[in-house]
Amino acid sequence: ATPTPSTAVPPVPPVPPVPAGPADGPAPAALDNLSTEDRRFPPDPAMIAQANVGSDVYAWASADRPDFWADQARELLTWTRPFTEVLDWSEAPFVRWFADGRLNAAYNAVDRHVEAGHGERVALHFEGEPGDTRTLTYADLQREVSRAANAMASLGVGTGDRVAIYLPMIPEAVITMLACARLGAPHSVVFGGFSAEALHSRIVDAAATLVVTADGGYRKGTPSALKPAVDEALAKGAPSVEHVLVVRRTGQTVDWTPGRDVWWSDVVDAASERHTPVDVDAEHPLFILYTSGTTGRPKGILHTTGGYLTQAAFTHRAVFDLKPETDVYWCTADIGWITGHTYVVYGPLINGATQVIYEGTPDTPHRGRWWEIVQKYGVSILYTAPTAIRTCMKWGDDIPASFDLSSLRVLGSVGEPINPEAWMWYRRTIGGDRAPIVDTWWQTETGAIMISPLPGVTSTKPGSAQVPLPGIAADVVDDEAKSVPDGAGGYLVVREPWPAMLRGIWGDRERYKDTYWSRFPGLYFAGDGAKKDADGDIWLLGRVDDVMNVSGHRLSTTEIESALVSHPSVAEAAVVGASDDMTGQAVVAFVILRAEAAALDRPAEEVQEELRRHVAVAIGPIAKPRQVLVVPELPKTRSGKIMRRLLRDVAEHRTVGDATTLADSSVMDLIAAGLSAPP
Ligand code: WTA
Repeated sequence: ATPTPSTAVPPVPPVPPVPAGPADGPAPAALDNLSTEDRRFPPDPAMIAQANVGSDVYAWASADRPDFWADQARELLTWTRPFTEVLDWSEAPFVRWFADGRLNAAYNAVDRHVEAGHGERVALHFEGEPGDTRTLTYADLQREVSRAANAMASLGVGTGDRVAIYLPMIPEAVITMLACARLGAPHSVVFGGFSAEALHSRIVDAAATLVVTADGGYRKGTPSALKPAVDEALAKGAPSVEHVLVVRRTGQTVDWTPGRDVWWSDVVDAASERHTPVDVDAEHPLFILYTSGTTGRPKGILHTTGGYLTQAAFTHRAVFDLKPETDVYWCTADIGWITGHTYVVYGPLINGATQVIYEGTPDTPHRGRWWEIVQKYGVSILYTAPTAIRTCMKWGDDIPASFDLSSLRVLGSVGEPINPEAWMWYRRTIGGDRAPIVDTWWQTETGAIMISPLPGVTSTKPGSAQVPLPGIAADVVDDEAKSVPDGAGGYLVVREPWPAMLRGIWGDRERYKDTYWSRFPGLYFAGDGAKKDADGDIWLLGRVDDVMNVSGHRLSTTEIESALVSHPSVAEAAVVGASDDMTGQAVVAFVILRAEAAALDRPAEEVQEELRRHVAVAIGPIAKPRQVLVVPELPKTRSGKIMRRLLRDVAEHRTVGDATTLADSSVMDLIAAGLSAPP
């Protein structure tokens, strides 16, 4: 074992400029520190010796990709009808995997483990924020999921019906998702931090018949209500909704609509603990998950059953080297995000893992809460986001140092590029300079991890996701869709269909083609800039479209702009993601006030605060701009396109770049003059 980085490998060459994308390319800050990074961390021989997946798997997978995935599908899943068809790409970009096979996702995640004699294995160690705990074995989970499925069926949910889920991180969240899967009713989980308005548009878009929620959940030491947002969303009109199923979590008082609202404890606890899972086709919709795109309207990303579960299970086993008998796995993501779907619910449970789920925030009641949880449960695999790592880093080394973290053996990162400083801190302070870090690149659309080191194979590099997984044909191309040579930058694409790829956007066939398959015909365009280093390893450089990444959460500039212009005082708005030490990017908004509003001459702070709150109401607190700057004009090209690159320069306190393509070149001076007082 060599705990110190090998210096024998030549340094990564300086990063060449990445071609500007449709929205001016990634923030330059992302490029800076990559040019000097030459540290390497080869896997420990002990890790190599016992790893689930060795280096031979790459050659095996690339020899025949579909065949490789078919082998995984047979090995990792239990099918009620085995498939004979593997990949159907004849109607590209619409794909079908294992199409004539049949299976049930919840049976695969729960029942078959009980049948195999693992019913007493812990599936979930739940840790509530106030300190309450619950342990659910696989046998417990089978009973709970069956009860919930029976109760939901009694509320009219049938195969194919959509169920909206708006819950905190409590066991019922996992149970409800699996109960939906048991019935073949696609779930649409809406993050509990989204507003009533955002919830409403998602319920309506999917025409959900049932909404599952809770009175509230605990956040930062206090009960935070959820049910009122559901009431408000439904009051806006959602004719498809027949019932609201409410979990009692906090004991807060709730408004009640008799006939529509039902307590979980009344119907689920009373239901039979026996339920026969519904067999569905491999291509039956498993879930819809809304994510921000480049336009104002969130996209309902559709995932189906067989292919998604295959890649979820394979990646979870390979990337985290999961040993279900001995590991304790913890992914800190909320089920409201794709990471919570694939790496809290489906991947780990399909693989029979024992995992921790935690309801609250990392600093409640103290800043060592996460590390206390790692120590308490002996967590061996931890999967979290760079923004959380940076926050813990800021709080100081002495906090994690006062807990026993020696159980950790694999560390994962997801959601945004991880800067080398945070990577090194994660490795040293959390991983004891011993646990390999897997920096995993993927998206809501890809369904599962696509690019990542493998802990028993890859010599890791701080800040790089490095290699496409076995069976994944990711590449970096230039403007002409040509693969770039090592050492060059461009756009990240995927060349071949993969099992967990999105099957489309709910209710919008054309938008799916336009968004992902039109930029480079025949290639899936992810929206990320990337470069290859001298070894051909991939470094992600951030989004090249109008999507921001704030604390690992995707936000659309256009969506926030439309929220701002919906305010009566705002005439025009432009939003940029400015680089931020803690959150990766932060939302900075530039607004032009309507003449009537400007004439009121209200104090700037008051207007700014009102607009920030307005965005929080329209979308959710996560979308609240860090700053709102009132400006007299916005920089536009002659064709009327806002030049966000220049606004980003202002937001990041840089000298404003080339403004020669502006229709009116004095605009930037006007903006600068108006902002002479630093924000
Ligand atoms: C970014 C989250 C660099 C990327 C799973 C992508 C990353 C978007 C990484 C998807 C990573 C995610 N390194 N960037 N390891 N992981 N991203 O849909 O810009 O919430 O396009 O899925 O996050 O975000 P989403």
